[in-house]
Amino acid sequence: MSAMIDPFGRRHVYLRLALTHRCNLNCTYCRPSGCGTVTTGPILPSGSILRLVRIFAALGICKVRLTGGEPTLRPDLPDLVSRIAAVQGIGTLALTTNGVTLGSLAAPLRRAGVENLNVSLDSLRRERFLKITGRDLLPAVLKGIGAALEAGFEPLKLNTVVMGGVNDDELLEFVELARSKPVNIRFIEYMPFRENGWSREGFVSHERMRERIERVHRLVPVGQGEHTGGVAKDFSVEGFRGQISFITPLSDVFCDRCNRLRVTADGKLKTCLFAPAGLDLAKALAREASDAAVARLILEALASKPEKHPEAEELRAGQDLPMNEIGG
Ligand code: 5AD
Repeated sequence: MSAMIDPFGRRHVYLRLALTHRCNLNCTYCRPSGCGTVTTGPILPSGSILRLVRIFAALGICKVRLTGGEPTLRPDLPDLVSRIAAVQGIGTLALTTNGVTLGSLAAPLRRAGVENLNVSLDSLRRERFLKITGRDLLPAVLKGIGAALEAGFEPLKLNTVVMGGVNDDELLEFVELARSKPVNIRFIEYMPFRENGWSREGFVSHERMRERIERVHRLVPVGQGEHTGGVAKDFSVEGFRGQISFITPLSDVFCDRCNRLRVTADGKLKTCLFAPAGLDLAKALAREASDAAVARLILEALASKPEKHPEAEELRAGQDLPMNEIGG
């Protein structure tokens, strides 16, 4: 089968696979207002997921990230992880979680073959965590982070969406975590989605984040993982064990380097985070007996991947799916 190169010459090696719509948190920036805490609907069964991963691996995907919703809510997760990790061609298996269940799951996930772990954490203050996520679970997440470090996830990536007037006064406290722990704090620019409360005024660009941190610390740029399609700007801090990164989907668009595809929990292919869900892979798997036929449909969909995503204001108005349906 041919490699997945789109009409703009971008080679696709990275698949983000949502395992469930469900989440045990209800973060303001992720879910549209008024949406309940659980989204239901059919999700791809494990057998279909594995078949898909095999098809994508044959097309050149070598990195898979499991997302959600909250992927650890999938009951068969460690078993599914070990089966995905065993697929030929999958070199890196990563998972993004809110950390709530890691206290008990970090070690089993590590044993099952998760190599890279990202934990979302937007506040270190209990009251504020409750306000952002709707649940008083900061202690569980901190315990989960401890368990992940103990299980050997190193460096452990912590994702922080920086929201002006909400948590942007905590930047230095987050940086402090990297002093003695092997963590990579990733400050993410807040992206607009349908009804997620984004506003131009509340937007903090990575330059502003950096400026505030650099009043106190010297940030030293480290190589920009471009060979792996990394989109983060990475820095070390003198004397610190961990690192600091900035992810800049809005102020420094990285569409020209995009190497990723997404599959939603119900099996729809998204060629761009901001494009409507397209090819129905669940249907394709049911209809097509041969993997080659499914692969052809994937290549056809890739051929109409947009060159780049629209500007912020347009994104805010026009999103078809909330973030919790897409998986970040
Ligand atoms: N802006 C930026 N990042 C977001 N994420 C979810 N919603 C947004 C948003 N509106 C990130 C979360 C999580 C990852 C899956 O996606 O921080 O770490």
